[in-house]
Amino acid sequence: MSNIVSIQNIAQYVGQEVTIQGWLYARTDKGKLQFLQVRDGTGTMQAVLFRGNVPDEVFEAGKRLTQESALIVQGLVKENPRAPGVPGGYEVDATDLQVVQIAEEYPITPKEHGVEFLLENRHLWIRSRLQWAILRLRATVMRACRDWLDSHDYLEMSTPILTPAAGEGTSTLFEVDYFGDKVYLAQTGQLYNEANIYSFGKVYCFGPTFRAEKSKTRRHMTEFWMLEPEMAFCDLDGLMAMEEEFMSYIVQRCLEERANELAVLERDTTALQRVTPPFPRISYDEALERISKIRAETGDEEQKELLALEWGQDFGSPHETALTQQFDKPIFVYGFPTIAKAFYMEPWPGRPEVCKSVDMLAPEGYGEITGGSERISDPNLLLQRIHQHNLPPEAFKWYIDLRRYGSVPHSGFGLGVERTVAWIAGIHHVRETNPFPRTLGRVYP
Ligand code: 4AD
Ligand code: MG
Repeated sequence: MSNIVSIQNIAQYVGQEVTIQGWLYARTDKGKLQFLQVRDGTGTMQAVLFRGNVPDEVFEAGKRLTQESALIVQGLVKENPRAPGVPGGYEVDATDLQVVQIAEEYPITPKEHGVEFLLENRHLWIRSRLQWAILRLRATVMRACRDWLDSHDYLEMSTPILTPAAGEGTSTLFEVDYFGDKVYLAQTGQLYNEANIYSFGKVYCFGPTFRAEKSKTRRHMTEFWMLEPEMAFCDLDGLMAMEEEFMSYIVQRCLEERANELAVLERDTTALQRVTPPFPRISYDEALERISKIRAETGDEEQKELLALEWGQDFGSPHETALTQQFDKPIFVYGFPTIAKAFYMEPWPGRPEVCKSVDMLAPEGYGEITGGSERISDPNLLLQRIHQHNLPPEAFKWYIDLRRYGSVPHSGFGLGVERTVAWIAGIHHVRETNPFPRTLGRVYP
């Protein structure tokens, strides 16, 4: 057998005999010619079976192939600008074909299917071209996150999934029975990373996090992946400066490495090219004013209702959407009301009703993709907040300890992978950005 190659590298093999292992995506017959669209995981390309070039039994075997049948095809790589699939245009002129398995009638056909049907068949849906492109983009986002952090001396630390207390509020906890005790699935790894920075300086954790979100929106999942960097000796300004460098790098990596996937998704990449530092920085108070103005100017009564917001409330999706439509790159909104945010955020100097928090909102209406803050560094204030939030002080004894031994200003944030990928891919709902999404109404397959 000739060299087994990946479709994504096919341009390197023009004029050579190669072997491709994959599945039949689609086919067309034209008498003595069969055009097989073959996908191998790295891409899709055309294999041409010409009756004159292959033995009769091979040509007949080609005709038996149904959608998603597994096959191994050998042939000569040729340039053909009109061939679909690989950018640049290449095809394989087949010399041999082995059928590995003839697939049963495949439930997902090129016709339109409802999203519930597709989600029920997610194990098959991930083979579809758009889903393939989205999930390839996701892998690049995740790798870019790690590459940037690793090359800037952040150390990856694993943080626990089973936790004794809430990190992000008690209303979205998943409870687990732990040999008769109650524990919770982690909503965040942040608190443990605050311990880790005192050993390693700059760290991050990267893994699944869990929220029993009762909200059924296009931005909420019950299990999602979060990347959480944490830095010692870093204040809110330092945090924003780091975040804008980091996010710009991720987007540029996607543009470089996933041009084909972005083209498959028909993503407007000019919007992504604009993602370079600095990002506009807007205070919560200014954001509120902007939203009130949009609200005052809209003639749409429903929109007016949705955009109602009083000082002290956190933004919902409609507010973020309206606000981010005014910008063409991600923005920072900082200085949220203390009562709207988690217990651990450092108060604004001289203005304790405001905290040193910052959300990054993606443009084009996507909204919050990262949330972070400077953390309280005083043990007494922290204990006071734990009481105010009705959290069990015994479970946070270790966390307060961190403020007793060498406490320093420190900051960090969490990036939601699914929301970030949805924005970069330009798709509507976060569920398609996770291979097997968990949402309010679904844990199958
Ligand atoms: O703003 P959040 O809740 O912040 C934290 O959990 C902090 N402990 C992070 C930190 O400072 N280390 O969540 C961070 C990000 C959000 O901006 C959003 O992108 C994503 O996580 N996220 C969700 N993504 C999908 N579904 C949900 N239910 C999400 N909740 C948060
Ligand atoms: Mg948040």
